[in-house]
Amino acid sequence: MAADAKTALETLAQEHRTFAPPKAFAARANAGDPGIYDRAAKDLEGFWAEQAGSLAWRKPFSKVLEWEAPYARWFVGGELNISENCLDRHVKAGRGARVAYHWEGEPGDTRTLTYQDLLDETQRCANALRSLGVRKGDRVAIYLPMIPELPVAMLACARIGAPFTVVFGGFSAEALSGRINDSEAKVLVTADGGYRKGGVVPLKKNADDALAQTRTVEKVLVVRRTKQEVPWTDGRDVWWDQLVGAQKADCPPEPLDSEHMLYLLYTSGTTAKPKGIVHTTAGYLAGVAATHRMIFDIKDDDVYWCAADIGWVTGHSYIVFGPLANGTTGVIYEGTPDFPDRDRWWSIVEKYRVSVLYCAPTAIRTFMKWGPEYPRKHDMRSLRLLGSVGEPINPEAWLWYHEVIGGGRCPIVDTWWMTETGMILITPLPGITTTKPGSATFPFPGVAADVVDEEGKSVALGGAGYLVITRPWPAMMRGIYKDDARYRDTYWSRFPGRFFAGDGARRDADGYFWLMGRVDDVMKISGHRISTTEVESALVSHSAVAEAAVIGREDPVTGQAIFAFVTLRGGKDGGEPLSRELREHVVRTIGSIARPKTIMFTPELPKTRSGKIMRRLLRDIANGQPLGDTTTLADTTVVESIRGASASGRDD
Ligand code: WT7
Repeated sequence: MAADAKTALETLAQEHRTFAPPKAFAARANAGDPGIYDRAAKDLEGFWAEQAGSLAWRKPFSKVLEWEAPYARWFVGGELNISENCLDRHVKAGRGARVAYHWEGEPGDTRTLTYQDLLDETQRCANALRSLGVRKGDRVAIYLPMIPELPVAMLACARIGAPFTVVFGGFSAEALSGRINDSEAKVLVTADGGYRKGGVVPLKKNADDALAQTRTVEKVLVVRRTKQEVPWTDGRDVWWDQLVGAQKADCPPEPLDSEHMLYLLYTSGTTAKPKGIVHTTAGYLAGVAATHRMIFDIKDDDVYWCAADIGWVTGHSYIVFGPLANGTTGVIYEGTPDFPDRDRWWSIVEKYRVSVLYCAPTAIRTFMKWGPEYPRKHDMRSLRLLGSVGEPINPEAWLWYHEVIGGGRCPIVDTWWMTETGMILITPLPGITTTKPGSATFPFPGVAADVVDEEGKSVALGGAGYLVITRPWPAMMRGIYKDDARYRDTYWSRFPGRFFAGDGARRDADGYFWLMGRVDDVMKISGHRISTTEVESALVSHSAVAEAAVIGREDPVTGQAIFAFVTLRGGKDGGEPLSRELREHVVRTIGSIARPKTIMFTPELPKTRSGKIMRRLLRDIANGQPLGDTTTLADTTVVESIRGASASGRDD
């Protein structure tokens, strides 16, 4: 287990308070009977078939699950359409006037979209995509800010059976081109720009730079958001308002096989090349709808706000598909929490009377740092349930969230899951589970998880090890796009027949799961997933750099922060100007989420005799911890020279 995980454990051990569900909450909870766990464990297929039963099917499935590890097929033989489930179903039931999204732009402009509005715009967009040549099975890349056209484009693709890949608007042109090339997308949907922190992100310009390095994209559909001047290619580029606006709001949903590919979402692994995680139709929808309904206890009068970006899996599953399948009224906010001031989120909670809020620990720690005066300016009594996701939440942040944001009355659901899992897997059920601050508690009903040692043997309660999922679940990834070997190798080879998440975990004496962070070369920076190798290869692509080693250093706000050891050609210290240039170089190559916080120039990097960089040692140096075993070092003087260099480490 990594040394930083051990430190986290010691901190956790100091927090012993438990929080039982408030009685009034439990009495009307969507999941209130603790028997649900046993029932689901005894009849996993029956449990999930029941969840799938609440969806609208075009053709019933003949078999719940076909499992030939590591390949799953759920709801075999069935057909449905996800956009029909998310939209038409509610409109037909007379709920067309219900608000689907209260949308708020960063500058303060707002839009309200009812289920009828969303259905109409989705049908127009689906027709527009067809007019651009998109057919069932063709991939569509989506590179948009957090505006209503983003869920519309996703739903439109789902309507016609075109798998989409959303690329987070903060990614660089280079990152976008890599994803377009891997997915071989035929159409790109983007915008002129988006608002962020009072400034404008030049999305269309980035998109054009990306397209200079791709060959598959035939048409670009461009939303007018900021109305700035943009580069334009006649014959290829089309304005959304002109094309989509001219379409008929009538496009019957295509019935799709349960296993039809819904989307690809690229995420970082342990190499420089992101993986295209494949998610399919029916199992995914059943999984996200059931978890969303039970974990967030969604009721008709709730106003639900998941503050993630739709560009990450959290937004796919819990802003778009889960909530819409449940007919939820949601909030979408385009910008940053500190524009124009640090109380923006709380003014949104007050304005829309948000009752369920779902966000990341890094946001909570930022709000802690800013101080309680910002939430205290607003009436937040509408809140009744809080959620956390993306990284371990430290007990201190948990308690602050509970007290200051939740007024001491809202249960907290700390939800563990990943891009690969599609849906939440380890989580409290707010009407049933007694929570412990910092623990994600127990696997969701119908989900089986274990903590195992190096040999794959289950670790007794009280012990720590590797988190594995031992039975298939409906929203699980179906593979890595065009890379089956990597799929088998990454997730299924270490502990055959079981899904290896890449996280360390411990179970306490009561069986509660405590997540302890990644055990591989994946970092979590503000909850964003970035691989050390991705940043290293960006650094070495700069002409001044000979070698680079990147590690995640513990950070009180962002969880981890990127710390880069860089050896320059010629071995010199590059000083502040080069340090700045290298940071910008990484931003250009990957995106601003990957900007190194600290760059340290070192004459050499510590290596084993076989030439492998000793990252563990670097992690200890960066975290200021005592060094472990250094006997495998090829040259022991290197450590001293790095320590000597630490004075020139530069922070932002
Ligand atoms: C990694 C997956 C799933 C939504 C966003 C992240 C970490 C996620 C928790 C949690 C501790 C968590 C894990 C996991 N993680 N949720 N509640 N407690 N760690 O998706 O980008 O695919 O990252 O996020 O390390 O492996 P992702």
